[in-house]
Amino acid sequence: MPHADRNLAPAVDADRGVIRERASTMQDRLIVGLDVPTLKDAEKVVRELDAVVSFYKIGYQLAFAGGLDFARELASGGTRIFLDMKLLDIDNTVAKGVEAIARMGMTMLTLHAYPKAMKAAVEAARDSDLCLLGVTVLTSMDEQDVFDAGYEHDPHTLVLRRSEQALHAGMGGIVCSAEEAEAVRRIVGPNMAVVTPGIRPKGSDHGDQKRVVTPAQAIRNGSSHLVVGRPIVSAADRRAVAEAILDEMRSA
Ligand code: C5P
Repeated sequence: MPHADRNLAPAVDADRGVIRERASTMQDRLIVGLDVPTLKDAEKVVRELDAVVSFYKIGYQLAFAGGLDFARELASGGTRIFLDMKLLDIDNTVAKGVEAIARMGMTMLTLHAYPKAMKAAVEAARDSDLCLLGVTVLTSMDEQDVFDAGYEHDPHTLVLRRSEQALHAGMGGIVCSAEEAEAVRRIVGPNMAVVTPGIRPKGSDHGDQKRVVTPAQAIRNGSSHLVVGRPIVSAADRRAVAEAILDEMRSA
């Protein structure tokens, strides 16, 4: 088992063979988005957050700047990595991609919550401990953005519909706004991960996020994991901000 030493206590769903991410401490539930341009920057962030943060998200920006090897390296040292690739393609391509990512020792992987893609991914990840997350509606999108993209549903309805489809496909979790976490949790039940970006401690800059929630409220709403990028990565004292966010999560 590649991750036998991780403090995760993952559980296998006998029906679907999907491993769910089970977090035991607040530290397990804070995922820092390594949204930085270079490996040097990423290494600096990880160094500064040593022993405070143990879970990182790597997305497009870093992945295409040498971040995949870095992700492998961190994972082999026991750090958990959420690879935010938001995959979507024909079934066969999704399946082959998921198989390759599962072999890299990643903890979480995102794909857009389209039923066919999710089913192909679940099948491909069946023998691994990769937690597959369905991206419902990006937290930077509001009603107008969703309408402009050609959908007739409002974001909330679309999030709930895709959550239900993710549950039926056998996914390990959902990515959604913490505003929707409570409603999503009611649909997916207690075992699936509900991972929420768009987290902003009081007084911090919203950037392009439109549906934002504080760390404490996100926990109260049923988020299993919080993804925090700019509020920590852009801070002058990253360690202090991460510690403050963890304290706020614990207070909830
Ligand atoms: O800097 P910030 O805290 O807004 O970062 C949030 C991270 O979560 C970004 O890397 C963004 O790509 C990601 N994300 C998101 N909304 C989703 C899925 C992922 O903001 N629905």
